Amino acid sequence: MHLRKKKWSDNFDSFPNYLKEENDILSFLQNNSFDLEIGSGKGDFIYQKSLDNPQTIFLAIEKSHNVLAYLLRDLYHKPLNNLYIINSHIEDLFTKIKDNTVQNIYLNFSDPWPKKRHNKNRLTADNKVNEYHRILKNEGHIYLKTDNISLFEEAQLHFTKPNFKIISCDNDYQLVLGDVLTEYEKRFRALNIKINRLVIKRT
Ligand SMILES: C[S@@+](CC[C@H](N)C(=O)[O-])C[C@H]1O[C@@H](n2cnc3c(N)ncnc32)[C@H](O)[C@@H]1O
Repeated sequence: MHLRKKKWSDNFDSFPNYLKEENDILSFLQNNSFDLEIGSGKGDFIYQKSLDNPQTIFLAIEKSHNVLAYLLRDLYHKPLNNLYIINSHIEDLFTKIKDNTVQNIYLNFSDPWPKKRHNKNRLTADNKVNEYHRILKNEGHIYLKTDNISLFEEAQLHFTKPNFKIISCDNDYQLVLGDVLTEYEKRFRALNIKINRLVIKRT
C-alpha cells in the first residue's frame, strides 16, 4: 500500500497509545495477554475489534506511518484505552515480545510478495511462523485471510507442523454475524473476489 505522506499525520504522533517509545508498550504487554494484528494498514479492523471487545488488549503493528495515520486519526477523534500501536516491521519486534503472551494473531490480507525469490518476506514465511508459535499462548489462534492463492497454499504448508493444528480452511469464506472486515476485504468483496481463510490453533 503506497500512500503519499499526509501533512496532517504528524499531529497524531503524540496520541497517548501511540507511544514513540515502543519499548514502553512492549514492557507493559509483557505482563498482559493481548491480541495482535500484523500489517494493520489503515486500521479499520483493529479499531472496530477494540471497540467491540473493551476487555481485550489489542496491539496493531504496521510498518508504514502514512497508512497508520488513518488509524491515529480515528483514535484522536474517539480514543480507545485498550488499543496500542507500534509503527515498525514485525521482524524488528519479535525479540521484544515475550513467549506465550499473545492470545490471537490476525494476518489480514498480508502483502503477497508474488515473486518466488521474495516469498521469504511474506508474513507466513517459515521463520515467522516459528516466532508466532513462540509468542502465542497454548491454544491461541491465528486468523489468516487473503485473496492470494499462492500465499494461502504456502501458509497451509507452513502451518502443517506438529505444534499447530489447522482447524478451519476455507476457499470461499462466507461472513458470519460479528465478523469485522478490513479495508482490503471490503474492497475484494465489492469486486466479488473470493476470500480464503485459515484458522490455526497452537497446540
Ligand atoms: C495489503 S495491506 C493490508 C492492510 C490491512 N490488513 C487490510 O486488510 O486492509 C498489508 C499491510 O501490511 C503492512 N506490512 C507488510 N509487511 C509488514 C511487516 N513485516 N511488518 C509490519 N507491517 C507490514 C503493509 O505496510 C501494509 O499496510
